Amino acid sequence: MTPKSFRIKSFGCQMNVYDGERMAEMLGAQGMVAAPDGDDADLVVLNTCHIREKAAEKAYSDVGRLRREDGSRPLIALAGCVAQAEGAEAKTRSAMIDIVVGPQAYHRLPDMVAQAARGARPVDTDMPAAAKFDVLPQRRRAGSSAFLTVQEGCDKFCTYCVVPYTRGAEISRPWTAIVAEAQVLVDGGAREIVLLGQNVNAWRHEGQGLAELIRALARIDGLERIRYTTSHPADMTDALIAAHGEVEKLMPYLHLPVQSGGNRILKAMNRSHSAETYLATLEKMRAARPDIALSGDFIVGFPGETEADFEATLQLVDAVGYASAYSFKYSPRPGTPAATMEGQIPREIMDDRLQRLQERINAHQLAFNLSKVGSETQILVERAGRRPGQMIGKSPWLQSVHVDTSARPGEIIDVAVLSAGPRSLAGAVRRQVAA
Ligand code: SAH
Ligand code: SF4
Ligand code: F3S
Repeated sequence: MTPKSFRIKSFGCQMNVYDGERMAEMLGAQGMVAAPDGDDADLVVLNTCHIREKAAEKAYSDVGRLRREDGSRPLIALAGCVAQAEGAEAKTRSAMIDIVVGPQAYHRLPDMVAQAARGARPVDTDMPAAAKFDVLPQRRRAGSSAFLTVQEGCDKFCTYCVVPYTRGAEISRPWTAIVAEAQVLVDGGAREIVLLGQNVNAWRHEGQGLAELIRALARIDGLERIRYTTSHPADMTDALIAAHGEVEKLMPYLHLPVQSGGNRILKAMNRSHSAETYLATLEKMRAARPDIALSGDFIVGFPGETEADFEATLQLVDAVGYASAYSFKYSPRPGTPAATMEGQIPREIMDDRLQRLQERINAHQLAFNLSKVGSETQILVERAGRRPGQMIGKSPWLQSVHVDTSARPGEIIDVAVLSAGPRSLAGAVRRQVAA
C-alpha cells in the first residue's frame, strides 16, 4: 500500500534536523502529509546518529518500538548516519526495516518508498557529492530561526570519530545556491539563519570563505541574525574572526570544540591544534569581539588519558571561561583508529571525570549568565513558554530568555535581564524593536 502520511524523527546533530526538514518537504511535494503529533503514520523515517554507541543502538530499539499493538507496523525507513554506516547490514539486524537511505542519498526517498510499497527493501548509501541539493524541492515556510546546510562531510579524521565515514569527504555548496536558499527562508519568515556544516568554517567556494559568505548574507533585508556551527579550530581564519568584529548581524557566539586540554591526547586524537594554539585563536576572537560567548565540546576518557591530561582539560576550561559546553564520555566506534588503541579507560574513571568536568563547565555557564543580570539586550522571540503569557527567546549569546510579553515568534524585542540560572535568564520587556 502506498503510504499517505509520514513522520520523521531526527536524532543527532543539527545537520540531521536540516535533512529531516528537507525530507519532509520532499515527501510533502509528493502529496504525502505529515502525521499530527500522537497520530499513527503510514511511513516512519528514523533519521539516526552514529556518533556514540548509545545513539547508534537507539536506532534499533526505536525501530522495534514501531510495532503496533495489533502486530501491524508502518513502513520504516532507516535514514541518517546509522543507515550510512551499516548499509544493507541494517536489514539483517532488523527485519522491520524496509528502506535504508544514507544522508547523501535521501533525495531518492520518494522512489524508494514506492519500491518498498511494492514489497522491495531498497538500500541507497551512495555518496555523490551533494547531488541531492540540485533536485530537492524549493523551501517554503520557515520558523523564526532556520537551519541552512552550507557544507557537508569532513576530511579531518579525528581518531575517535565516525563522521568522515558517515558523511563522506568535505564538500561546500555553491555560493549562489546558499544565498538563494537564505532569501527563500527569509521570505518564508526566518529572522535568523544558522549556517550548518560538520566543519562549517571550512566552507570555500570560488576563492571565497565563510567570512565573505556571511557578509553577503548580511545584506539580505529582513534577515537580522546570522550564526554558524560547528567550527574546527584549524579553519578559524583571521577573515572570519574579523567578521565577528564588523558584521553586526553576526551574533557574538562561537562553538569551537577543543575536545581536550592535554596536548598528548590532542595529538593522539589527530586534532591539529594544541591547547596553546586553541587559546591563541580565542584570544584573537576576544580582541575582535570582546563580548563573544564561547562554547565547545569535550571528550573525557580518550584511550591513554591520565589524571594529569584530564587536569589539563579542567585548566583549559577555567582559562576560557565557557558560556556553555558539551562533554561526552569517549565511546569506541568500530572502524576508527582509537577503538583499538591501548589504554582504554575504565567506565568508573570516565564517569568520575565527566562529572567533575560538567561541574566545572556548569559553574562557568552560571557565571556567564549572571554577568548579564542588570543589563539590557535584545531577544529573538522563538516560542511560547510554560506559563500563559510567557514567551521564550534567544539572546545574542544564545541564552534562552523567559519573558512575559504579547510579542509573537519572529519578533525582536528589547528586554532587561532580571535574573539568571544555569540554563536560562528571566527578563522584562523594554519596548518592541522590530516586528
Ligand atoms: N565537527 C565537529 C563535531 C562533530 S561530532 C568538531 O570537529 O568538533 C560532535 C561531538 O561529538 C564532537 O565534538 C565530540 O566531542 C563528540 N564525539 C565525536 N566522536 C565521539 C566518540 N567516539 N565518543 C565520544 N564523543 C564523541
Ligand atoms: Fe569528527 Fe574531527 Fe571531523 Fe569533527 S573534525 S567531524 S570530530 S573527524
Ligand atoms: Fe550524528 Fe551523523 Fe550528526 S553521526 S552527530 S547525525 S553527522
